Amino acid sequence: MEFDFATSVERRHPAQGDWPSQKWHQYAEDVLPLWVADMDFRSPPAVTEALHERVAHGVYGYGLVPESLRQALCDWSAAHYGWAIEPDWQLWLPGVVPALHLASLALTAPGDGVLTVTPIYPPFLQVAERTGRVPQQAALRPPEAEGDDWRLDLEALEAAITPETRLLLWCQPHNPTGRVWRADELDGLAALVERHDLLVVSDELHCDLLLDEGARHRPLAAAYPGLAERTLTLWAPSKTFNLAGLTAACAVIPDAGLRRRFANMAKGLQPDGNVLGLVAAEAAYRHGDPWRQALLETLRGHRRRLAERVASWPGVRMAPPASTYLAWLDLREAPALRDVASPQQALLERAGVALSDGAAFGWPGFVRLNFGTTATQLEAALVRLDDVLRG
Ligand SMILES: Cc1ncc(COP(=O)(O)O)c(C=O)c1O
Repeated sequence: MEFDFATSVERRHPAQGDWPSQKWHQYAEDVLPLWVADMDFRSPPAVTEALHERVAHGVYGYGLVPESLRQALCDWSAAHYGWAIEPDWQLWLPGVVPALHLASLALTAPGDGVLTVTPIYPPFLQVAERTGRVPQQAALRPPEAEGDDWRLDLEALEAAITPETRLLLWCQPHNPTGRVWRADELDGLAALVERHDLLVVSDELHCDLLLDEGARHRPLAAAYPGLAERTLTLWAPSKTFNLAGLTAACAVIPDAGLRRRFANMAKGLQPDGNVLGLVAAEAAYRHGDPWRQALLETLRGHRRRLAERVASWPGVRMAPPASTYLAWLDLREAPALRDVASPQQALLERAGVALSDGAAFGWPGFVRLNFGTTATQLEAALVRLDDVLRG
């Protein structure tokens, strides 16, 4: 079946009405937005059909999570990751970011340390403070030479741990680098977690978007039996199938005690499931895989094109992401941006391209570029960036 990832969908001025999007309405009209992580593609046709059917019913009162959705996620997990999860391990909620905060509130106490690695998706850096805990961070090891990739620095991670450290916020595949962690990195991480008796929130939101042939996602809780009882796995169809605005995500929690604590904390702080989001999630997991395969082909092409261009920009470096539609660019040695306080701001002003500022991820001098868009839009942005970065 053919899917269309080439036709631009109007998101700034849709003909049907006023439906502002964060991505397209944050900046001036002439700016090309390659920042926040949503894609410019329509979701799988099967999702839209399921939504049409649900909307036609016309009653949108409080819903329940359908057993058929729970089963669809069990089937997806078994088929793609060989992990036999149970329907009742699933707590559906409106987003992954709320789950990060709920986990901190539910599983730690004031004064406890909440640890993460940087660079990292910005909300990870805010969870501890927002929930009255102590933020703790360790840096990843950046690539040292051409062909290197970002690496987990286990020594740095261990050095950041104190007796107060209780919870690790972990991200795999990793936003913003796109790393799919190697087995030896994960082996070391798992041993460290057990050694220090930590709990883990493993944000695996991007796990269905592996671009490297041969790359394999191993859910942390499945790969290490010793971690299953201390890990909350966060999954959602939102990145894979471009459904973020429908707010449906799932915490998979095998341990009954952790599940109870998390669910109790969620009561009163989050709404019941979004009935349309749950319908969309089920349709995506049941029928969306051919669309996803076609999407991955498109994204691989975009990644190739981006890597070629980055190679032509003096002083700009990128380890091609093994997953996700996000690229993490090191601009610290770009002569064209020497002396600017913020490369992101400079590229916004000089090129009219909106990227995400690395400073928010804990690494100033970097930007994150979202290539989940049409080839036409990507090319238009690359031409603008050429003008500035080729000097
Ligand atoms: C790693 C990661 N976690 C969480 C989120 C946000 O998830 P949600 O919209 O479900 O809160 C994103 C969005 O880009 C992300 O990349």
